[in-house]
Amino acid sequence: MELSIVGSGYVGTTVAACFADLGHSVTNIDIDEDIVEQLNDGQAPIHEPGLDELVAEHGGDRLTATTDYGAVRETDATFLALPTPSRADGSIDTSIIEAGARSLGEALGSKDDYHLVVVKSTVVPGTTEDVLGSIIEDASNESRGEDFDVAMNPEFLREGSAVEDFLGPDKVVLGTENERANERLSAVFEPLVESSAPAVVETGIREAEMIKYANNAFLATKVSLVNELGNICKEYDVDAYEVMDAIGLDDRIGERFLRSGVGWGGSCFPKDTAALVAAAHEKGYEPSLVEAAIEVNEKQPKRLLELLEDHVPPQGKRIAVLGLAFKPGTDDVRNSRAIPVIEALQNRGATVVAYDPVATENMREHFPDIEYVESATAALDGADGALVVTDWDEFAALDDEFESMTDPVVVDGRRIVERREGITYEGLTW
Ligand code: UDX
Repeated sequence: MELSIVGSGYVGTTVAACFADLGHSVTNIDIDEDIVEQLNDGQAPIHEPGLDELVAEHGGDRLTATTDYGAVRETDATFLALPTPSRADGSIDTSIIEAGARSLGEALGSKDDYHLVVVKSTVVPGTTEDVLGSIIEDASNESRGEDFDVAMNPEFLREGSAVEDFLGPDKVVLGTENERANERLSAVFEPLVESSAPAVVETGIREAEMIKYANNAFLATKVSLVNELGNICKEYDVDAYEVMDAIGLDDRIGERFLRSGVGWGGSCFPKDTAALVAAAHEKGYEPSLVEAAIEVNEKQPKRLLELLEDHVPPQGKRIAVLGLAFKPGTDDVRNSRAIPVIEALQNRGATVVAYDPVATENMREHFPDIEYVESATAALDGADGALVVTDWDEFAALDDEFESMTDPVVVDGRRIVERREGITYEGLTW
């Protein structure tokens, strides 16, 4: 099929390259000329394992890019993969995707055949139909349900394994408003369903919008519950990891997402839980449990600091922060737990020396004035304490390096360093 994808960010580019790999002809539309040029040259504008290879193979061939929305007229369906960032109150800002829908509508006005518009971005229930559908109707002078349909297809990609997640998903969610839209969207996913046989959920548009929020709120709340239980374990000198390994054997609980520690970050969990809370308030509902999950997540970095303070008051001390990315395998520092940790250290008058294998440059934008070093060894050298914030594998291999600390106090927020002789070790929940 002929597909167009609006937006070449992390989701749009991955989806475009994967659809091209599955045999579709894909046109990516982006306002950024540099990104368009890169894609046409076969270069991925973002870093994801496996993406470079797919863009190199299909870029300029089955995968092309343009700044011209007119290209959508040559396609059967358009996916909107534009950002929906948080506003100050946590609700989503739909101005970027609304502008994209308007440009798309203007282009569709002169297309004769039926067209399907699929929203990929994370949006609260009602946005696809009531906001974006209406904008496309106005801009195209066409009728939704007659000349075009809207649909919703949420994305569950994780950073660091986005290509693998797209090509081998647990589920594909197809939210449509009628049989015609369902048929076309199903046809888009047919090669993927044939190659990897995921569960296919055919549902309504509002349900599809909510599935994304429910999925992320459930996982974020699961981790926060595990963190809460872990905090209680620590108070009783119980190893939370042994407890979680045991409860994970109950298949109603499941063994994944049971790692307690300094909490969740990234571009999705914080944003989506905040948006769900704002959306619930909008309707006059008090979402106590999701709010509590957010509260526990904010508590974990504070507890990390309290454990450090039990051994080393940070005032005037040199404290190493190991790990800046929100999780291993990415250079993304958005909502990384390292941010509140560094802020708290600075507020307490510590000198911060930070190390991350790949995320240093991104963190420099948040904290230009702290010291960044090239290795964990350099960070530990002369430090009066160390806080472990990201579970990079390389931290598990640290050993003699702790000997160069002035005071070998290690507070581990991710259970990656082993308790050992010669250091004062505190696990956050163990
Ligand atoms: C997440 C969802 O998994 C994905 O489906 C969605 O579409 C986007 O958001 P991502 O943000 O890439 O993906 O990261 P993920 O691997 O889910 O981890 C999220 C955060 O939870 C990380 O900060 C991680 O460190 C933390 N986490 C995860 C824990 O603290 N403990 C766990 O057991 C698992």
